[in-house]
Amino acid sequence: MDGRDLVRSVKMVGSVQGLRMVRAAWRRQRADARIPAPRGAERARVPGLLVSAEPGPGGGVVKFARSELLIRVSVGGAVFWSWDGAEPLPSYALPGAAPEPDPRAVLEPDKNGGWQVVSERLTVVVSRHGAVELRTPGGVVLRRELPPRWWEPVGGGAARWVQRSEVPADARFFGLGGRAGGPRLRGGTYRLWNTDPGGRFGPGDDPLYLTMPVQVVVSDAGTHLAFHDNTWAGRVTLREGEEGAGSGHDRPGTCEVRMEGGPLRCWVVAGTPARVLQGWTALSGAPALPPSWALGPQHARWGFGSEAEVRRIVAGYRERGLPLSVLHLDIDHFDAHRVFTVDRERFPDLPGLAKELREDGVRLVSIVDPAVKASAGNAVFDSGREVGDAGAFVRDPRGRPVLGEVWPGECVYPDFTDPLVREWWGALYEERLSQGFSGVWHDMNEPVAFSAFGDPSLPRSARHALEGRGGDHREAHNVYGLAMARAGYEGLLRLRPQERPFLFSRSGWAGMQRYGGTWSGDVATGWPGMRASLALVLGLGLCGVPYSGPDVGGFDGFPSPELYLRWFQLGAYLPLFRTHAAIDAGRREPWEFGPEVLAHARAALEERERLRPYFVTLAQLARLTGAPYVRPMWWGASADRALRECEDAFLLGDSLLVAPVMEHGADRRAVRLPRGRWYDTATGAAYEGPGQVLVDAPLSRIPVLARAGAVIPVRGGDGGLELEVWAPAAGRSGGGLVVRDAGDGWARAEVERYTSRVADGRVVVEREGEEGRVAYPVRVRGLPGQR
Ligand code: GLC
Repeated sequence: MDGRDLVRSVKMVGSVQGLRMVRAAWRRQRADARIPAPRGAERARVPGLLVSAEPGPGGGVVKFARSELLIRVSVGGAVFWSWDGAEPLPSYALPGAAPEPDPRAVLEPDKNGGWQVVSERLTVVVSRHGAVELRTPGGVVLRRELPPRWWEPVGGGAARWVQRSEVPADARFFGLGGRAGGPRLRGGTYRLWNTDPGGRFGPGDDPLYLTMPVQVVVSDAGTHLAFHDNTWAGRVTLREGEEGAGSGHDRPGTCEVRMEGGPLRCWVVAGTPARVLQGWTALSGAPALPPSWALGPQHARWGFGSEAEVRRIVAGYRERGLPLSVLHLDIDHFDAHRVFTVDRERFPDLPGLAKELREDGVRLVSIVDPAVKASAGNAVFDSGREVGDAGAFVRDPRGRPVLGEVWPGECVYPDFTDPLVREWWGALYEERLSQGFSGVWHDMNEPVAFSAFGDPSLPRSARHALEGRGGDHREAHNVYGLAMARAGYEGLLRLRPQERPFLFSRSGWAGMQRYGGTWSGDVATGWPGMRASLALVLGLGLCGVPYSGPDVGGFDGFPSPELYLRWFQLGAYLPLFRTHAAIDAGRREPWEFGPEVLAHARAALEERERLRPYFVTLAQLARLTGAPYVRPMWWGASADRALRECEDAFLLGDSLLVAPVMEHGADRRAVRLPRGRWYDTATGAAYEGPGQVLVDAPLSRIPVLARAGAVIPVRGGDGGLELEVWAPAAGRSGGGLVVRDAGDGWARAEVERYTSRVADGRVVVEREGEEGRVAYPVRVRGLPGQR
């Protein structure tokens, strides 16, 4: 938090709290002065020379003079390798068991005095010094890990380590969680430490709320994902390579992972982008399926303030015929900002209000902050003190509860890395459900402890259960939000087993998709913030977290009508489509920006509703295959280098290409097309890719293109499902998948496959396996002479 943010926070929380934030910062700094051990008293170590090798399931162990390397190829094709005997478990990223080793993968000597494991998708080659090379079946190097180096404190304790690797010269990096400067991660250092940037963030702010050691690397040789399974604080330094650098030789791209402790173990999944995400979510867990109402338009604000205000807002949507699916209540509906309470004066009958809104098709979602006001008489605090032997809250090394300043004042922090605490916390959601809420919005879970300077979180020396292993905040910090999400998800599931929980969380880590989605956090209002918000959605999708979206319009300040509208038009094509803003920011209701914006925002809302069946399908496919709804342009064409550079457009599923307007004053924009024919869905104009075209982008809409041959499920005029089919190019065929909405429960949804082709100048659509019969009305678009 810099000076600007301190001033802003003091404005938000008051000057008494401002003073306490100064005190908290000193307190944290004092606590951390003892940790880590002073540098100098460390011993460096490298693996040394290869000594022997021992085959084992899926690979084996290669022994070096001062360490050993475990290699294990699993049945799904993911490769695990680790040093110093680290096993895949325990892991916060893996949902339970580690995948089975592939019995066909064997460790064998190679020609150069090293060893190798040949598997179906990857060959792992180990050199005599401990470099590990990952090659495609064709022998092309995807990644080369150099021998690691450790620094061990002489008196014992966590060893720091560094692992350098090389990737092909043409490779591009993506991922590492939510990065505002992405989606393509340029050269530089990216910290692994979930951080509330304080106040608001733009493209230059790093790290943010949700980091993870997951890199997706795309090159001509193929795509791979490398996951360093280690929750500790760390940093990743990337450098893009250069082809024909120096005397005509390629300079490889490099990546250096430095961790302050914890195991050195890594998973690698390779293949096409689709296979990589399938492999990654097979490993880290299938994304939770949001209930279909969570795919509709949502609206929030910090400071709705009262039941009357909530009614006024919902009526505002209704009177203007604007669809609305969800309304969110922020901390101001709590009693004195305390979690799991209600301010009864301003919200005397929340269950009644919730019921009334529900009848009108609007669900209520509640914010849930982890920090608990530390005062006797606060029921959550009192019950938390009774959990287990030592209570539910994080303690310092001397056993005293760690205090931090958050919205309600002085707070304690549940230790979600303790299963007992998760169970207690999960049961508290009963209160939210009885107030009529249908879902939860987890916030401030990096976790935040306001601080006048330095890291706005808990001291690194704070103790955590870490599932019974015990450890400190350096290891637990990054998984705090993930473990909270697990507590909330499992709690909701126990309370309402028939319904799929709806949860999204500001912070998280690898595997959080098992419990829900996320949102961009406090993105700065402005064109750069808007770009950053798209970067976050794209990057997180590649890390396995497909459901997210920004605060449409930006979190702070006052967007211009144009910026608001353009952001709104972008948001309409993102999984979480939600307007939201800070208490001191301008309004974000679509009618607050004049009649022209209202008309165009209405069109965006209506289009979102029309595409709802497509979003339902994409959500199901994300769960089944790990493919995010929102995909980078290179998704199906990772060898097209120009697409790898394209950051201002995206693919929505297989069928649509969305090109948002992210600059002031533009009424047309360049769009880079992947191979094949694409139709401008507004004008019907057909373009041939690959290549770049200029398309109209009037204020009334952003360019959306449909792939020729696409079969897209949409909501027809009568509310029923309809297939929108874009004519295949001559001699080509196409198709699409449809997964129908199976309600908010657990019913297994059926995947329907459709094909499209042209015969005698007509477009023929057939359903696979049903003798071709199509049960829905079909609307063909893109034929010559038709719009
Ligand atoms: C944090 C959240 C924001 C929320 C505010 C008040 O800043 O990111 O969305 O409105 O806290 O709860």
